[in-house]
Amino acid sequence: MAESLFGRVEPFAGDPILSLNDSFKADPRPEKVNLSIGVYTDEKGRIPVLGSVRSAYEQIGFAKRPYLPMDGHPGYRDGVQKLVFGKAHPALAEKRVATIQTIGGTGAVGIAADFLAKHLPGRPVLVSDPTWENHHGLFQRAGFETTTYPYWDRANRSVDFAGMVKALEAAESGSIVVIQPVCHNPTGVDLGEEQQAAVTDVLVAKGHVVVFDMAYQGFGTSVDADAAFVRRYAERASCLVANSFSKNFSLYGERCGGLSAVCRDADEAERVLGQLKLAVRRSYSSPPMTGGLLVATVLGNDDLRAQWTREVDEMRTRMDAMRKLLAEHIRALSNEADVNFLLSQRGMFSYTGLREQQVHDMRENDGVYLVGSGRMCVAGLNEENVPKVARSFVAARQV
Ligand code: LMR
Repeated sequence: MAESLFGRVEPFAGDPILSLNDSFKADPRPEKVNLSIGVYTDEKGRIPVLGSVRSAYEQIGFAKRPYLPMDGHPGYRDGVQKLVFGKAHPALAEKRVATIQTIGGTGAVGIAADFLAKHLPGRPVLVSDPTWENHHGLFQRAGFETTTYPYWDRANRSVDFAGMVKALEAAESGSIVVIQPVCHNPTGVDLGEEQQAAVTDVLVAKGHVVVFDMAYQGFGTSVDADAAFVRRYAERASCLVANSFSKNFSLYGERCGGLSAVCRDADEAERVLGQLKLAVRRSYSSPPMTGGLLVATVLGNDDLRAQWTREVDEMRTRMDAMRKLLAEHIRALSNEADVNFLLSQRGMFSYTGLREQQVHDMRENDGVYLVGSGRMCVAGLNEENVPKVARSFVAARQV
């Protein structure tokens, strides 16, 4: 061979979540437990096919597969708007929301970053400390520098609210601020309603550009209650909202998400929609059709949508039950272990406070996989594996 073209390409250190999931799959131990990646599994440890989605599959059949428009399936976009903002939201009535179908929630945040890099370049980007690691990566890829605002109060296992507000007040006016409005990944702790109102006041007063990342709508309290922060914010100011259907539709591999820009008026929304379409064209031309049809079919049909809402409620109820069960099992093994965090945190994730070495021990000794930060995906718990996870957790804490 002539001189190597790629000799200087650095090895990929691996993704803290996706590469760990690959290691889990390669682990030969039959009793292994995957509490790493944010994937919901049912009481038998299977990724469910929701009944509403199954019906939608039957309805869409094997139709033709032309290209979708750059902004996606019209019924899908309409469904996203009603789900995220609520049917009666004034911003929808005033036609000042521009929505596109995206390739999952990651695609939504990625297009948001690309759009902002072009139209509001050079601004500081603040993400929570800690956050989903990819928030840093997606905004950096778009050319931004990222910094953090405090979020996690380790001592109290709650939100460092004073620290968060102080940092948002101190940030340069017009900064881009990424906020997870519900089921915060990785901590599982959210702002209460009064805190949301106070943070909104600061964000609006500072003219910050908020990118909401809502990947778990319905896994906190309910589909509607979980969107309350975003809905109230959108009554006061412009913002971007990324949403995902991976978890709440159990459609991980179909890559279904949405990105909505709340604008000042209909004319602005039209122009923003055009620029979002251009960003899509430059990145991947148009989104995939099968997932688009599935989501559009469920959200566009009153019966299927009601069935889907019940199915989301069931998933949430099961996750809450598993939090309680794990807390009981840990308590039964150790009086010392504080397990209240399991009950107060919500959504798919719990920040356990375990250190990297303890997480490592659980994986090596017991085949129980958590993310290195100590994040546990409670959606991977079931009645069968909870006793083992409890034993592993208590043993790791004793070291
Ligand atoms: C997670 O945080 O585990 C999920 O959102 C999956 C992902 O893409 O990282």
